[in-house]
Amino acid sequence: MSGDMRQCFIGLDIGTSSAKGVLVDAAGHVLARAGADYPMATPRPGWTEQSPEDWWAASRDVLTQLTEASPTPPAAIGLTGQMHGAVFLDADGAVIRPAILWNDQRTGEACADIEATVGAEQLRRITGNPALTGFQAPKILWLRDHEPDHYARLAHVLLPKDYIRYRLSGAFATDASDAAGTLLLDLAARDWSQEILDALDIPRDWLPSVHESPEICAHVSADGAEASGLAVETPIAAGAGDNAAAAVGGGIVGSGTALVSIGTSGVVFAHSESATPDTTGELHCFCHAVPGAYHLMGVSLASGGSLQWYADRIASDEAAVAQRLGRNLHGLLADEAGTVAPGADDLYFLPYLAGERTPHMDPDARGAWIGLTLSHDRRHMVRAILEGVAFSLRDSLVRIEAQGVVPERLLLGGGGAHSAVWRHIIAAVLDKPVAVQTDQEGPAYGATLLAAVGAGVHADVAAAVDAMVDVPTEFEQPDANLVAEYGPRYRRFTKLYPAIRDALSSS
Ligand code: XUL
Repeated sequence: MSGDMRQCFIGLDIGTSSAKGVLVDAAGHVLARAGADYPMATPRPGWTEQSPEDWWAASRDVLTQLTEASPTPPAAIGLTGQMHGAVFLDADGAVIRPAILWNDQRTGEACADIEATVGAEQLRRITGNPALTGFQAPKILWLRDHEPDHYARLAHVLLPKDYIRYRLSGAFATDASDAAGTLLLDLAARDWSQEILDALDIPRDWLPSVHESPEICAHVSADGAEASGLAVETPIAAGAGDNAAAAVGGGIVGSGTALVSIGTSGVVFAHSESATPDTTGELHCFCHAVPGAYHLMGVSLASGGSLQWYADRIASDEAAVAQRLGRNLHGLLADEAGTVAPGADDLYFLPYLAGERTPHMDPDARGAWIGLTLSHDRRHMVRAILEGVAFSLRDSLVRIEAQGVVPERLLLGGGGAHSAVWRHIIAAVLDKPVAVQTDQEGPAYGATLLAAVGAGVHADVAAAVDAMVDVPTEFEQPDANLVAEYGPRYRRFTKLYPAIRDALSSS
């Protein structure tokens, strides 16, 4: 270990619903945390947008609180955030239109265009992924085709967290893990693919420079310092996409343990040493925040998002009860679901409320409860949501294991990990020992490790994990009866969506 152990580091996460920040010391102790919410607009069905100015206002608020709480001026900051979004800037660095987010589904035609122009096979070989509606490159083509006036002004395209770096420092830079979610990165080279840029007619100088996650690639400017409370010249580590950063924060920097995160999206994240995309295109293969490493990842678009939808749109009675009892609504709903037998009396839920990535890769996928009878009530409906989300996570795990990456145990993160009922269901459906991520700070915490490595306090990401992460040693075994119960139910679940897909899409 080198450097001053009294130094402090900030991790800042530009999430989908809020900016979250954490201040830690070099041993990983959390000294302060702060958060600030912002809205998400859905101007049309399937569209999701946010104002980069809202991210910046929230970031300023969070950074000001953290710098005020810091015993010494923070030695470095690491950035992380929602992946895949497109922030469009003109030559003066002004935002041209609201950012288009990772869960936006408007770009179906642009995806077909990209696969036709580059070739589906070639695209997967170079970038590790098929053209998916939420990714960044199709959003650039959508702008070209649908908002030509905006496209004519385009001079820079940034990912969400990199816009905050720009506001803090004036630099246009990104990291390899987040860049891998654009569909423009050569996965093996860990830099932009000139072949794909040429094919799509995207000038390279619209894109930021690409760095490994712990690298210091920018410094806070006078304006950035004024806005944030950080000192001028504070180093900014490249950082990482939220899933890679959460994995670092959970100590997932090698094989053995996979991360299952149940936030708005649901993610199964497994470390991999090689840039080998799966052949089916049903999984993502992205760069890891560990320099030179990769990861395989299955993504469900509405995991916690399904329960959130139920809580927001349907559970008004339960919301009133939760408020009266001073309880968290999601926890109350999950506890009620726990009073219903496994299998929810043969009720199934397809959690495809926002379309789906793994395994269907179908922006037009739709959610459903299937198997309703007169005897079902709300508790069954919620239990079916918890089980349906777990089945969709198993869809990802099955595919990761088919690539020869077989985790022995699972670390659970995100809001959904806090429910004991949901945890038991996930352990049994995925049939693996589970533990809950000890630090509850999520991606922002991982970003502090990257900042500490960048500042030279820890030699590399693995050393930072050793020094800063409280890796759980006790994993809870899945309940054998539940495992036996869920095996046949999972097989039935996998048949449901294919059975209704054609009926839903026919005119
Ligand atoms: C990953 C993905 C989401 C976002 C939102 O591919 O789209 O997990 O990063 O957090």
